[in-house]
Parts: sequence; structure tokens; C-alpha cells
Amino acid sequence: MPDPTQSPAFRTILRKTKVLQGPFHPLSITNTPATPHTFFKEWYQEALDSNILEPHAMTLSTIDSSGYPDARVLILKNLDSRGWHFAIKADSPKGQQLANNPRAALTFYWPAMARQIRVRGGCGVFAG
Ligand SMILES: Cc1cc2nc3c(=O)[nH]c(=O)nc-3n(C[C@H](O)[C@H](O)[C@H](O)COP(=O)(O)O)c2cc1C
Repeated sequence: MPDPTQSPAFRTILRKTKVLQGPFHPLSITNTPATPHTFFKEWYQEALDSNILEPHAMTLSTIDSSGYPDARVLILKNLDSRGWHFAIKADSPKGQQLANNPRAALTFYWPAMARQIRVRGGCGVFAG
């Protein structure tokens, strides 16, 4: 059976699919907040003001024991001086991956604003 993803028709469909439609919010580097935390909270409020759906949904990327990346969508639970918080089960694949390698990346994408936010760093474990 032919692979439909290899067909010219599918390539055409992809090329016709719109991306980065905006609206594009102005970004002035001179106005960049002092910390990533403040910057994130300002952008998050703009996302709420723009009625972005599920702006707290984010992709958590981790590394498995073979060194391969893994990723899935989570919900942001909090942001404070310790960083970006999420809730996971310790015995889940991502929980085990973070126990073995406590480094991760978060990606937020808000298509209607043509914005993405990328966060990366070390992970700690907190109860509650
Ligand atoms: C919108 C959305 C929000 C989600 N939020 C969470 C979450 O907060 N915590 C969580 O453990 N899984 C959440 N999930 C499920 C994860 O994406 C994932 O399927 C599951 O946790 C298993 O991941 P793992 O096999 O990599 O451990 C969410 C999924 C979606 C689509």
C-alpha cells in the first residue's frame, strides 16, 4: 500500500496550511523585563487578554535512559522563584526520565499570537 505521507498531494496540503498568521504583538527588546519569570508572567497575561485557549498547556521535553528525547503536553501549575512547576507521577515514564536525568525543556506555543516561549534547565522535586 502506498504511503500517503509520501504523496505530492499531501506535500501540497502541508504547504497550503497556514502558519504564523498572528496578530503579531510588538516586542521591544529595551522593554524586556529583568527576569524570565516576570517576562513570562507579562506574556501570560497578554495571552489571557487575547483569549488564547489553554495558554498554560506546554510541552515538557525530557531525555530517556538511552539519550533519546521524549516530549508530552502538561499543564503549568505555578511559577515562582524556584521555577516553572508541573505535576507528574514519579513512576511515569517522564518521572523516571527526570529521576535519571533532571534536565528538561518547556515549550509554550500560542498560535493566535504567533508566540512561543522556551524554558530549559534543571528540575527539582517538590511535594504538595
Ligand atoms: C492538555 C493536556 C494536559 C495534560 N496535563 C498533564 C499534567 O498536568 N500532568 C500529567 O502527568 N499529564 C498530563 N497530560 C498527559 C500527558 O501529556 C501524557 O500523555 C502522560 O502524562 C504520560 O506521559 P509519559 O508517558 O511521558 O510519562 C496532559 C495531556 C494533555 C493533552
